[in-house]
Parts: sequence; C-alpha cells; structure tokens
Amino acid sequence: MLNLEGRVALVTGSSRGIGRACAIRLAEAGADVVTNYVTSRSAAEDTALEICARGRRAWIVKADVSEEEDIQSMVDFIGEKVGRLDVIVSNAASGGFRPLLESSSRHFEATMNLNVMAIVHLVKAAMPLLERSEGRAKVIALSSHGSQIALPSYGLVGTSKAAVESIARHLALEIGDRGVNVNVVKSGLVETDSTKRFPDAERMFAERQAKTMTGGRDLTADDVANAVAFLASPMADMVQGEVLTVDGGAAVHV
Ligand SMILES: NC(=O)c1ccc[n+]([C@@H]2O[C@H](COP(=O)([O-])OP(=O)(O)OC[C@H]3O[C@@H](n4cnc5c(N)ncnc54)[C@H](OP(=O)(O)O)[C@@H]3O)[C@@H](O)[C@H]2O)c1
Repeated sequence: MLNLEGRVALVTGSSRGIGRACAIRLAEAGADVVTNYVTSRSAAEDTALEICARGRRAWIVKADVSEEEDIQSMVDFIGEKVGRLDVIVSNAASGGFRPLLESSSRHFEATMNLNVMAIVHLVKAAMPLLERSEGRAKVIALSSHGSQIALPSYGLVGTSKAAVESIARHLALEIGDRGVNVNVVKSGLVETDSTKRFPDAERMFAERQAKTMTGGRDLTADDVANAVAFLASPMADMVQGEVLTVDGGAAVHV
C-alpha cells in the first residue's frame, strides 16, 4: 500500500509538466507538498489548489534552484514554517536545445547549475531535516534517455542528465547510511511545455509512439509521477542509488 500520510515533500519545478503531476500524485498518496516555481506563480497556485483539493497542505515557494542562495532560503522556509521534510523531488531542469558546437561556457554553466548542482545544494541544505525524518527520507531526481543516447541538439541536457545519474549513486554512498535513499526516474518522452519546443518534436513523438511496447498508449506525466511516488514511499526503502526507466519499453526496442 503506497501511503505517504504524515510526510512532507518538496517538488522543484512543480508549477508545470512532470513536476506538477508529481506534486499532485504525492498529495494523492497522502503527503503535504511544497510547490516550487521560478516564473509561473499562477500555475504554481493552481498546483497548490489541486493539492489542497486532495485534503493535503500546500506551500508555494518561489526559488531559482540554479542559485544556491535561493535553495538555502527555500529550505530555511521549510524548516521554519513546515517543520519537516521527508521527500525531495529534484525535477526542475532546462538547458535549451542547441548543438554542442554552438554552446558556450555560459550555456554549460547555466545548464549544470540548474540540472546538476541543484540536487547537491538541495541535499546539502536539507540534510538536517532529512536526517530527522521518521523512516527513510527519499531524494528522487529526474533524468532522460539523453544521459545514454545521442539526441539532436540535446548535448547540453544529455550531459547534465548523465551527471545526475552519477550524482545519485554517489550521494547514495555518502548519505545512505544517514537515513536517505537517492534514486532517479528516467522518463521517456512526455508532452510538456519544454518538449513541445524540441526541434523536430512531431517526428520524435511519432517515433516514440512506434517504439513504445505498451499497446500504443502515450506516456504521460502521471505515469512518471507514479514511479516517483513509489520511490518516495516506504515500499522503496531497499531501492538505493538506482535508475528506474519509465518509457513503455521504448529504450529497449531496436
Ligand atoms: N518532458 C519529457 O519528455 C521529459 C523526459 C525525460 C525527462 N524529463 C525531465 O523531467 C523534468 C521536468 O520536465 P518537464 O518537461 O515537465 O519540464 P517543463 O514542462 O518545462 O517544466 C519545467 C518546470 O521547472 C521549473 N523551473 C525551470 N527553471 C527553474 C529554476 N531555475 N528554478 C526553479 N524551477 C524552475 C518551471 O517553473 P516555471 O513554471 O516557474 O518556469 C516548471 O515548473 C526535467 O528534469 C526534465 O529533464 C522530461
């Protein structure tokens, strides 16, 4: 039984897309949820309303998670106003889609700060709260197929996602014995605001449809959120440092 009653979860970038679906799914499983956004205040408010409609408490925090100071302020807020933190879903990411040969150090730095360093800064800031969690605390990061395979204009993000997967393993080594599980959900292609902007998006969605081995159903943000909720729950207490792929089998289909 997937039960997160009494737990508090922080989902970064939960105003839209997969993060929003995760926040709502965690609330359905019983968690109170801190919603984070950087620009879309009204979308974050909408996510919070959905959480409250499920009988859970919701807080909204504006924080740019590519900035260590913003992360520290958000975690300070959680410590002071919420009083506990049991689950972190490190979901917010971007990086833009451009060939590596058209990428500057500035592009790399911005992508790595948001997609990679945010996890380290989040865990560092939140450790005092995570260590006080009853039962095992859970950190879940979002990755994509670009961590392993080459996709057009995806070199920046793909590189960052490979780093995310390695960071999860190394954080598991560093804090696993201090009561925290760190795992990754590797999502297949889901239609969200960012993937609609992919160069050649139409072709990519058609290819995904052909490769999925689950009867032609489109992968949705809710499918990804279900895996996140499992990893956030005590049912996954012995899953540590792992990458769980949720893509309807697309990645193993030739
Ligand atoms: N969609 C896919 O097909 C897919 C596949 C594999 C993996 N993923 C991963 O899943 C995660 C979510 O992707 P998505 O497609 O749902 O993204 P999305 O629709 O573009 O939403 C991005 C979310 O992140 C927030 N965000 C962006 N920059 C931020 C920052 N600096 N600080 C705090 N929040 C920030 C946005 O907040 P605002 O609304 O305030 O801008 C928004 O809530 C990412 O890690 C992505 O790499 C997605």
